Amino acid sequence: MNTYDKLVEASQFLQPFNAAGANIGVVLGSGLGNFVQEIAITKEIPYEEIPHFPVSTVEGHHGKLIFGTIAGKPVIAMAGRFHFYEGYAPEDVVFPIRVMKFLGVQTLLVSNAAGGVGEGMQVGDLMIITDHISFAIKNPLLGANDNRLGPRFADMSEPYKKDLIQKAKDIAQRLGIRLKEGVYFGVTGPTFETRAEYKMIRLLGAHAVGMSTVQEVIAASHAGMNVFAMSVITDVGIREEENIITHDEVLQAAKEAEPKFSAVFREMIAAL
Ligand code: HPA
Repeated sequence: MNTYDKLVEASQFLQPFNAAGANIGVVLGSGLGNFVQEIAITKEIPYEEIPHFPVSTVEGHHGKLIFGTIAGKPVIAMAGRFHFYEGYAPEDVVFPIRVMKFLGVQTLLVSNAAGGVGEGMQVGDLMIITDHISFAIKNPLLGANDNRLGPRFADMSEPYKKDLIQKAKDIAQRLGIRLKEGVYFGVTGPTFETRAEYKMIRLLGAHAVGMSTVQEVIAASHAGMNVFAMSVITDVGIREEENIITHDEVLQAAKEAEPKFSAVFREMIAAL
C-alpha cells in the first residue's frame, strides 16, 4: 500500500475523534509531556492502535495521540514522537505529521529538547527556532514524490513562519518570559556530540543542536503547514571543564523549564 492510501486509512480511523475539527497540531518533545495537563482531553489513542503508525521495534510504549481543546481551541497533540535514531525510516518518522495534515491541521507547533551551542545559551533557556540546518539527516522526501502530498521540490525559504515567531515574542513579552532565537542544527544522534562537533556546529552558525524536528518540519512544509518550533535548552555543548551530557540531565532540565514552555505554547494556541 502506498503512503497516501495509508494516510487515508489512518485519518479515516481517527476522524471520529476529531469532531471538533482541530486545525492546530502540537508535537511534544522529550521531558515536555506535562504539557498534556493543559489539554481538556476528549480522546487519547495509543500509537499502536492507529493503523499504519510506525510499529515500535523496542519494548515499551511510544506515546499517544491526544484530541482535546486548549483555551477552547481544538487541538491534536503528539505525546511522544518517532526519532530517526530509533531505527524508523524517515517516512515513518513523519507519518503522524502527515496524518495531522489529513485531519485538517494547518498550524503545527513543534517542541524539542536541545543542546545549546550559541553564545550565552544556558540550561533552561527557551529558544524559538528561526531556521534549521539538516546535517547528515536522511530527507523524508527522498524517493518518488506523490504530488497529492506536496511538490517535488519543496520550498524551504521560510519553514518557521515569521508571523508565528512574532506572535510568540509578543506573548513572551506579555508573560515576562525571556525567549532566545536561533538556528537549530539537526543531527541523527543517538550519540551526543563530541567537543569538536559542538565547536563545528557553533562555527557553522547554529545556536542549538538536537536529534528530532528537522524531518517533521520538512514534511510539514512540504504539506503546506505553518510551523512554529521551540527548543528547550537542556545542556550546553560548549563548556570549559567537564563535558559529560546524560539523557537524565536532558530530561530533568526539560522538566524544569516545562512551565515556561507550556505557558508560551498555551498562549500561542489561545491567540491562533
Ligand atoms: N545534542 C543533541 N541532541 C540533544 C542535546 C545535545 O546536546 N541535548 C538534547 N538533545
